[in-house]
Amino acid sequence: MRYDRRSILAAGLACAAAPALARSRQQSLADADGPPLRARAARKGLLYGVALQTRNLADTPLAEAAAREASLLVPEYEAQWRIIHPEPQRYDFRAIDRLEAFARSHDMQFRGHSLVWHLLMAQWIQGAIETRASAERVLVDHVTTVVGHGRGRMHSWDVVNEAIADGNPELRRTPWLAALGPDYIDIAFRAARAADERLLLTYNEYGIQHADASSDRKRAAVLRLLEGMRRRNVPIDALGVQSHLSAGLPFDAEKLRRFLAEVAGMGLQVFLTELDVRDRDLPGDEDPRDQAVADLTRRYLDAALDERAVKIVVTWGVSDRHSWLNDVAQSRRADGRRVRGLPLDEGLARKPMWRAMAAAFDGAPAR
Ligand code: G3I
Repeated sequence: MRYDRRSILAAGLACAAAPALARSRQQSLADADGPPLRARAARKGLLYGVALQTRNLADTPLAEAAAREASLLVPEYEAQWRIIHPEPQRYDFRAIDRLEAFARSHDMQFRGHSLVWHLLMAQWIQGAIETRASAERVLVDHVTTVVGHGRGRMHSWDVVNEAIADGNPELRRTPWLAALGPDYIDIAFRAARAADERLLLTYNEYGIQHADASSDRKRAAVLRLLEGMRRRNVPIDALGVQSHLSAGLPFDAEKLRRFLAEVAGMGLQVFLTELDVRDRDLPGDEDPRDQAVADLTRRYLDAALDERAVKIVVTWGVSDRHSWLNDVAQSRRADGRRVRGLPLDEGLARKPMWRAMAAAFDGAPAR
């Protein structure tokens, strides 16, 4: 039994809430364990969001479960360049407009992901950015047009995604770096600010949540990148910490706390943008696997949410019924079982991970 503030508070709440929880037990399975995550997050000035694809909208129970639990929606991949700007003179916003319409009809905010990324680039780009001038024109036109499409309606955009190379502190070698050098990052952020004065502009990165040496290096590189942007007065509002956790990798709460405090010290917000848990190294039995996933989620969120600059938590999907983790070799389980790294199970029932998130939101300091 932990006797820190959070546990005493939770125990106290549990006693005080016992009658309500008892009543709540009578609710449907979907309502067991009480208020949805969006309500618990809102009580603390947080936003809880989920990533969806348009094809998820055809799965009405899943889409409704997402809207019941979350108050922010992110297109999982359909706001990427290849999808929304497939030809030099043609934009196609149909997919993200459908997702935005769903979000609006369910009182959810909408965030964009992502304007500049080395994956899902349109095939035509390479031949269009052979000079510095043409590269800057292509980049600024894309950012201006896409941000302009949602002007005044979007919570935030991931302006640049994953610009730091794995394994070393340098910038990832992308066509944008080749054409414009490191300036491409500042150019993208300045164009986004010019297109929407109120939009929250985010730099999004992965591999900075664990305590292994690679994550240590990447955290240091992210801090250098952000410090440089602040020094050059580049308009940026938040760091996106993707939060793809891996059960089995070392996690050090104090290292995370120190890192987030340094980011907050620069006057930036922090968004946990793609939370899920890779469980391939856990045994196949569901109960112990679910508990291990929940325990890691709780430890991670308890540490992160102690930092009041952390403002949103997004899970990369909402149910094990659909997760990218089943689609890629480095996350797929060797035993062929589906990954169980999201808050709802395939039947849309709340799992221990959901309860861990609920407890972390309930125990978090208010923003
Ligand atoms: O839905 C279409 C299908 O109709 C088509 O037949 C098929 C073949 O072209 O493609 C399907 O779309 C795929 C989509 O996933 C849905 O499965 C896209 O090609 C594929 O590119 C897309 O992958 C996305 C991936 O980013 C793109 O690299 C994943 O959904 C998405 O979860 C993943 O998300 C990334 C974040 O953007 C950045 N952080 C890491 C995260 C996980 O890789």
